[in-house]
Amino acid sequence: MSDFTPGLEGVIAFETEIAEPDRAGDALRYRGVDIEDLIDSVTYGHVWGLLVDGKFGPGLPPAEPFPVPVHTGDIRVDVQSAVAMLAPYWGLGQLHDISDEQARADLARVSVTALSYVAQSARGVGLPAVPQKEIDKSSTIAERFMRRWRGNPDPRHVQAVDAYFISAAEHGMNASTFTSRVVASTGADVAACISAGIGALSGPLHGGAPSRVLHSLNEVEQADDADAYVRGVLDRGERLMGFGHRVYRAEDPRARLLRRTARQLDAPRYEAAIELERAALAALAERKPDRVLSTNVEFWSAVVLDFAEVPADMFTAMFTCARVAGWSAHILEQKRLGRIVRPSAAYIGPPPRKPETVEGWS
Ligand code: ACO
Repeated sequence: MSDFTPGLEGVIAFETEIAEPDRAGDALRYRGVDIEDLIDSVTYGHVWGLLVDGKFGPGLPPAEPFPVPVHTGDIRVDVQSAVAMLAPYWGLGQLHDISDEQARADLARVSVTALSYVAQSARGVGLPAVPQKEIDKSSTIAERFMRRWRGNPDPRHVQAVDAYFISAAEHGMNASTFTSRVVASTGADVAACISAGIGALSGPLHGGAPSRVLHSLNEVEQADDADAYVRGVLDRGERLMGFGHRVYRAEDPRARLLRRTARQLDAPRYEAAIELERAALAALAERKPDRVLSTNVEFWSAVVLDFAEVPADMFTAMFTCARVAGWSAHILEQKRLGRIVRPSAAYIGPPPRKPETVEGWS
């Protein structure tokens, strides 16, 4: 029996050829390719192929209509529930029983249809769907996504969404990827694996936080004094949203790339974000000199998504659309491994006893 490691921190449970953040080296590579060389050079569809197949192309098939629309008012919940229903409606086989080729085809089908579902839901229940022939004019996944949502999107918004999707497509053994792999390890169907990943992503400690960065930017813009805002937050013992990271001990490379995208696109929040970042990094360096606290991906994601007019309550659903690529790659890798994930727990409950000693026995 190995030592107890709370939260599995630092425990290596899998070998992977897909990605793992380079914590000291300030880089994130997808199958060895630095994401810095991907954004602005290839599209999210290419990145899906790189992560899942290890090569660019053949890309993703066209999206299919969802058999059962779900409308709870929370798009992340809707897509999680709707994805789970795909297995019986489409007759998807369980990973245990199907070939790798079939699993790859199922992952592509579920991924692209999940994206189209989010876009359609974002369009609103009352609005008619954009005709398929309009969507078919688009050559990239991000453009199809935005066309399905907006009809005739601003190309700069499409560029912003594509950069965001690429930067958030994969990040090693994070909680939602681990969850997807655990479900895949049981031999379940790919819809069950992806739906589980969406659930894990929804918590504020994982994918549910970037909207809070917008709140900070609003405050800075209103007060026009980033230093005073930062001082106020830290003096109250609170954390600055969008700073610090569990893995990186250098700048989060995704933050650097999305900052570049925000500058290129002249995002309206860019100046306020730069000002808040300057004030925050100076104050954190002064107050926490022993700890490298840099800007994380959430900070610049918020600025880039805000530029693309994505409402804050859709940020987690957007993260789902991006991360479905990484989950797909890991689900397939786990299928090939073919070993169920079954860790142990250290039992610290009551010693062996009779049922009549348990409260409520009568
Ligand atoms: N603002 C102020 N102080 C901070 C911040 C921050 N954003 N982040 C860390 N610190 C301080 C802590 O107070 C702590 O100080 P102490 O040792 O005096 O108590 C020290 O730095 C270390 O903090 P930990 O919580 O141990 O760092 P950890 O690596 O576990 O946490 C986390 C990482 C959760 C991201 C943290 O930096 C944080 O809360 N940031 C703000 C929220 C945020 O931006 N979340 C998105 C993360 S990106 C992602 O998950 C995709």
